[in-house]
Amino acid sequence: MEEVTVQILNKLHETTYDSLVDEYDDFALKNKDIVEGAVSKLKRHLDSPARVLDVGCAVGNITSELVEHGYEVTGIDISPKMIARARKCVPKANFIVGDLCSYDFADNKYDAIVAFAFIHLFPKNEAARILEIFRALLKPGGIIYTGTTDSDSFSEGFETKEDFENKLKRFRVRWPRKDLDSFFDENGFEIIKVYEHTDKKGKLWLDYIIKVKEK
Ligand SMILES: C[S@@+](CC[C@H](N)C(=O)[O-])C[C@H]1O[C@@H](n2cnc3c(N)ncnc32)[C@H](O)[C@@H]1O
Repeated sequence: MEEVTVQILNKLHETTYDSLVDEYDDFALKNKDIVEGAVSKLKRHLDSPARVLDVGCAVGNITSELVEHGYEVTGIDISPKMIARARKCVPKANFIVGDLCSYDFADNKYDAIVAFAFIHLFPKNEAARILEIFRALLKPGGIIYTGTTDSDSFSEGFETKEDFENKLKRFRVRWPRKDLDSFFDENGFEIIKVYEHTDKKGKLWLDYIIKVKEK
């Protein structure tokens, strides 16, 4: 596989997701139950109020539900158009247009990081770097809630997502559960819980609650 740099991916993500705002909004409207389910699971592990960073927040659908439940939320997304929509929809949250990997969060720390459908956008080595960034942004004892679909075998590369109307090529990593379990473990994270749910398209999602391993 040709080397996929973060610079290439960032450019691609900005353009791709800028063009998907309406589709994401529509998806969010039709899939409120998934977001409600996810936040209700997070609540079992994190009392509100608490500071939450929603990474790759897109139109802010998860951000909105988190705010409803009393969390103080910051959303970050590389797509300016996604963030413009999110700001309109969730005025009570704080939003950042930026690249998670290069943004300067100064001394801000969070009780939880929510990163749905995010880690699988990056090659495995970059995903490990993202975990390092998450680790640095968490308060002691903080948790991460991250989810991806289950796959039979590991693969990474460009693909066209047929289940979206906008058939742009996207980079996607397919993670089988056992690989993801090892990946978190090898990168110093303990798995607290894995929730499974099947979406309306029949895809099995694995939602992980993880935290930094204690020494
Ligand atoms: C697959 S979408 C997931 C959206 C949302 N979390 C959800 O589950 O519905 C991934 C989001 O991550 C954003 N993104 C991609 N690369 C990013 C980066 N380096 N920093 C911040 N956001 C990024 C994209 O713009 C997109 O909105």
